[in-house]
Amino acid sequence: LAPTIKLNNGIEIPVVGLGTWQSKPEEVEAAVEYALKEAGYRHIDCAWGYGNEKQVGEGIRRSGVPRSEIFVTSKIWATRLHDVESALDESLNNLGLDYLDLYLVHWPIHLNPDGNHPNFPTLPNGHRDVVHDWPLRETWKQLEAMVKKGKVRAIGVSNCSERVLETEILPYASIPPAVDQVELHLYNPQHKFLAYLKSKGIVPQAYSPLGSTGSPLLKDEVAVGIAEKHGLAVADVLLGWQVANGVVTLPKSVTPARIKSNLEGAIAASKKLTPEDIEKLNGVAASGKQLRLIQPPWGVDLGFDNWPVK
Ligand code: A2P
Repeated sequence: LAPTIKLNNGIEIPVVGLGTWQSKPEEVEAAVEYALKEAGYRHIDCAWGYGNEKQVGEGIRRSGVPRSEIFVTSKIWATRLHDVESALDESLNNLGLDYLDLYLVHWPIHLNPDGNHPNFPTLPNGHRDVVHDWPLRETWKQLEAMVKKGKVRAIGVSNCSERVLETEILPYASIPPAVDQVELHLYNPQHKFLAYLKSKGIVPQAYSPLGSTGSPLLKDEVAVGIAEKHGLAVADVLLGWQVANGVVTLPKSVTPARIKSNLEGAIAASKKLTPEDIEKLNGVAASGKQLRLIQPPWGVDLGFDNWPVK
């Protein structure tokens, strides 16, 4: 089992969770079942917007692991920011659960629910379906009410920059966000932002920690060198480095051998990496290797330093 760290409300979160974005519905059920039953995962990260919540729920149920032992996260999609409780009920119903451990605002941007987009809209002009004047604090208030009702144990955000947190959430929050889930990996480490989150007691969660499909990270020469030195896989090093830096990492896989090795390897690497290894890995992006993988058109104005030019 993965070790846990404490969120700012005292709840423990396992430092490695199974990511499910881009896991096909027909594959994710077996992946989740295997992760829980065979590989020792106790943390599953999913989202309404991934279109596979029902199958994730089925995998959880089939695993036979008691609900109370599993940390389950879901996220409210951007078309539902005005409508938190019914969106949450839909996710709970999909998952077959009566509470979530963590519920996140998937993107701090309100997409018009009447827009003509599917779950993942391609916006030709980048802004067509964005509701510009939606007050995020209203969504946050509704999320806080879900904690009080006992439908979620913790609430947080995803894809929120320091600017969004400072201007739209923290000044209005009576329950501060427990986490901010953002793109974090060797080529997008966001060290300054991590220090900011730490100063606010917000735990960073890493999506796409391995660089997603077809990743160049797995061939990075610094990571490869460190992996060879310790007899670890490169993926172990990429994940263990995050754990050692206080990041909750969420590698996605539907392949049993990788599901298993990602958890075991991350924990082993987090212990084996020396302070020098960690320094080296911290410096890789600064040496010119910068990569942001996830760039939906509505993200350009969210205040991330390293978002590509419009
Ligand atoms: P698959 O699901 O087919 O096993 P990320 O977590 O950064 O989004 O990366 C997920 C991608 O990396 C998926 O394509 C996944 O493939 C692949 N992957 C997951 N774990 C490993 C691993 N240990 N080694 C190589 N590739 C991996």
